[in-house]
Amino acid sequence: MPARRRTSLALLAHLCVSLASAASYSVVDYGAVADGRTDCAGAFLRAWAAACGTEGEGPAAVVVPAGEFLVSRARFSGPCRSGAVAVSIAGTVLAPVPYAGAQLWIVFQNVDGVSVIGGTLDGRGQAYWACRRAGGGSSCPAATRSLTIYRSRNVVIQGLTSVNSAGIHVTVQASTGVAIVDTVVSAPGDSPNTDGIHIKQSSDITIRNAVVGTGDDCISMVEGSSDVWIQGVTCGPGHGISIGSLGDTPEQVAVRNITVKAVTLAGTTNGLRIKSWAKANSGLVDGVAFSDVVMRNVRNPIIVDQNYCPGNVSCPTEGSGIKITNVSYTDVEGTSATPVAVRFNCSPSQPCTGITMRNVWLGYGERRRAAESFCRNAYGVAYGHVVPPSCLAHQEMFCYK
Ligand SMILES: *[C@@H]1O[C@H](CO)[C@@H](O)[C@H](O)[C@H]1NC(C)=O
Ligand SMILES: *[C@@H]1O[C@H](CO)[C@@H](O)[C@H](O)[C@H]1NC(C)=O
Ligand SMILES: *[C@@H]1O[C@H](CO)[C@@H](O)[C@H](O)[C@H]1NC(C)=O
Repeated sequence: MPARRRTSLALLAHLCVSLASAASYSVVDYGAVADGRTDCAGAFLRAWAAACGTEGEGPAAVVVPAGEFLVSRARFSGPCRSGAVAVSIAGTVLAPVPYAGAQLWIVFQNVDGVSVIGGTLDGRGQAYWACRRAGGGSSCPAATRSLTIYRSRNVVIQGLTSVNSAGIHVTVQASTGVAIVDTVVSAPGDSPNTDGIHIKQSSDITIRNAVVGTGDDCISMVEGSSDVWIQGVTCGPGHGISIGSLGDTPEQVAVRNITVKAVTLAGTTNGLRIKSWAKANSGLVDGVAFSDVVMRNVRNPIIVDQNYCPGNVSCPTEGSGIKITNVSYTDVEGTSATPVAVRFNCSPSQPCTGITMRNVWLGYGERRRAAESFCRNAYGVAYGHVVPPSCLAHQEMFCYK
């Protein structure tokens, strides 16, 4: 196992072992009432302050017992004198209804060595989605994101269940060393912009064993995501596992070294997607390895779309300036819900290069009729059994094995 990934998992083991002996602060002792109606935000924050301020050996613990706790909004800030804090949640934390329209609901920021073990977060986004579905658009407030890890290091989220977030369920931003393991994300397939796990400007991120069904990307990675390891994810309904959208604005930071392994996509709109706006803004996607992937009835199983420009507004003639290189698809099998199972629609100004396909078998429909590949400005090589046959163009500079 790579050294840096070991950090967060070792931290998890350490916290689990020492949880029992650590100083522990129950939110109930700070005034929380498990009636689902009393706002417990103050009690949660006081318990956090106590744990975070504890000096001593081993992590301090915040304990949320079983029951339903309404929390209007909470921002848990570090750095902590205790060094590490374990937040152990047995119950369910409820977001307020009607929605307050805050951008963020529960936030951990500037922390180093926090683990959140267990718990259900219920974002109760139904009323907000209704506003969006009714065409409310800009008159609806911000889509509140349920859980955000911001400017933090060495964070473990283990055994979290996040349901019905109004917006993105879990966001990791400007952080390093975050492990999200044994997670369940659940929201309806038609709930708008409810991405499961969203990564931005962060590195050394592990997502392992997640079951995600939602209304947008199951996992999305945007600018500045690097050294990301995703393994053992089931996605559906949803929009798949996505890199992007990139290139909407200038000042893009690269997306690098992404591993996606042992994932199943079922009934999703996309499977493995890389997407950038058809705008000249420069940027880079370098080093993405997809392997051991099962697709079941996925509309666009493998897709690179560099010509994204909804409604042709503000980008109709530009090619994407995002360079996409060194992307591999290994051992991908299953069914496509549309005839085009593989689509590399790359930029005329920045063609995709170094694409590798190795043992890909995708058929159209349950009976696996012959599917097609589509390539535009896409360079690379195919090895082994690749069905539908690759349409990647060969590149002179490319080294053959
Ligand atoms: C790529 O990321 C993984 C973690 O996902 C890390 O272990 C590995 O060292 C990284 N590779 C490079 C070349 O940085
Ligand atoms: C391609 O990306 C992988 C990570 O996915 C990395 O290990 C490898 O070194 C890269 N190869 C080149 C030629 O850059
Ligand atoms: C956008 O513009 C392109 C090129 O001019 C055209 O082929 C395409 O049909 C247009 N799409 C829409 C949705 O207007």
